[in-house]
Amino acid sequence: MTGSAEKRLETEMRAEGEVERREGIEFRSAGAKDAEGIAELYKKAYDGHYPLREYFEPGWIVNAIKKQSYIWQIAVNKNKVVGSSVGVPCNWNKSFEIGRTIITDNFYNRKIAKTLCERVRSEGFTQGFEIGWGTIRNEVMYNISKYLFMPVVGYLPGMHKPKVRETHLFCMRPSPIAKEKRRVPKQCPLYQSSTVKEITKELALDSIISDYPPDVVVGPNSDYAVLLKLSYHGGDNSTIINSIDNFDKLAAEYLQVTLLADKTDAIKFFSRLGFELCAFLPAWFEGDGKRYDCVTMASCGVKAVLPEKMFLSTVNKFKKIQLK
Ligand SMILES: CC(C)(COP(=O)(O)OP(=O)(O)OC[C@H]1O[C@@H](n2cnc3c(N)ncnc32)[C@H](O)[C@@H]1OP(=O)(O)O)[C@@H](O)C(=O)NCCC(=O)NCCS
Repeated sequence: MTGSAEKRLETEMRAEGEVERREGIEFRSAGAKDAEGIAELYKKAYDGHYPLREYFEPGWIVNAIKKQSYIWQIAVNKNKVVGSSVGVPCNWNKSFEIGRTIITDNFYNRKIAKTLCERVRSEGFTQGFEIGWGTIRNEVMYNISKYLFMPVVGYLPGMHKPKVRETHLFCMRPSPIAKEKRRVPKQCPLYQSSTVKEITKELALDSIISDYPPDVVVGPNSDYAVLLKLSYHGGDNSTIINSIDNFDKLAAEYLQVTLLADKTDAIKFFSRLGFELCAFLPAWFEGDGKRYDCVTMASCGVKAVLPEKMFLSTVNKFKKIQLK
């Protein structure tokens, strides 16, 4: 690791709530008094097509910060909120999503998004979350994920639908604790794949072999009460399957499922149904104080746009994984 990278890691432990100022911009945690300004920012985002309509509601924002413990960082210029990035806790697997990053157009290219995402990541790990993750919709966010040491571990072929359905990259970073708890299955063909080997190497993961739990499909059973109503991201019409039992009753443009990595038969089952294996998630599932690798599979019934040509190399790498 380079000297500057080490220095950045040191600053990860920055205290929550610390205020930073640079070139007339104040970076800080959001509070109730900022809710109106934040809502205005999201209403204008994506040319008015921001899919998460709850972000337009100041009352919902206050509740998310106070009761649901969202990690909310904002950038303020002359009392106006000009940037926002959010850490959404996913308590079922002690992870947090770094996302919802929006900057007002005329404040682009001033490293505001980079600073906000770094502050969210820092606070998430300081609070004890074991995995930070995010989805990437453009090259700028790809650059930021690299800066945050959150390598790309896959893609989601159409889960998000701002105006049209878009393929996003998926990036993640396990904390040192998650790495220590990580176990890999005995003799699993998935681990022969160069894509999996590359991810394991990039994240500098050890490979302690262990039996895996009997679970097949994993996911939040309660975090998203909307699961059976076909939606994970409200406006996206995307569905996360959290149990094989409810799977064939669902219909949506986009279906996604996460499986324990050793469940080769289930992976083949979903492949036969037309799902593509699109992400490898080390240490994603926790049980008995250990963490187990998973894969994500998805099926998109409509053509999703690839926002950046550079995303294609990730898609192609995953297409090479063959389970016989
Ligand atoms: C994406 C977005 C949040 C970026 O905000 P920003 O504050 O302009 O980004 P930053 O200035 O922090 O840029 C981060 C890095 O990307 C680089 N970058 C900026 N524009 C870029 C471009 N068009 N292509 C590639 N890299 C770019 C910057 O140079 C910077 O890298 P550096 O620090 O090494 O120089 C902003 O454009 C936005 O709100 N877009 C609409 C919403 C959106 O797409 N959100 C992302 C959801 S995943």
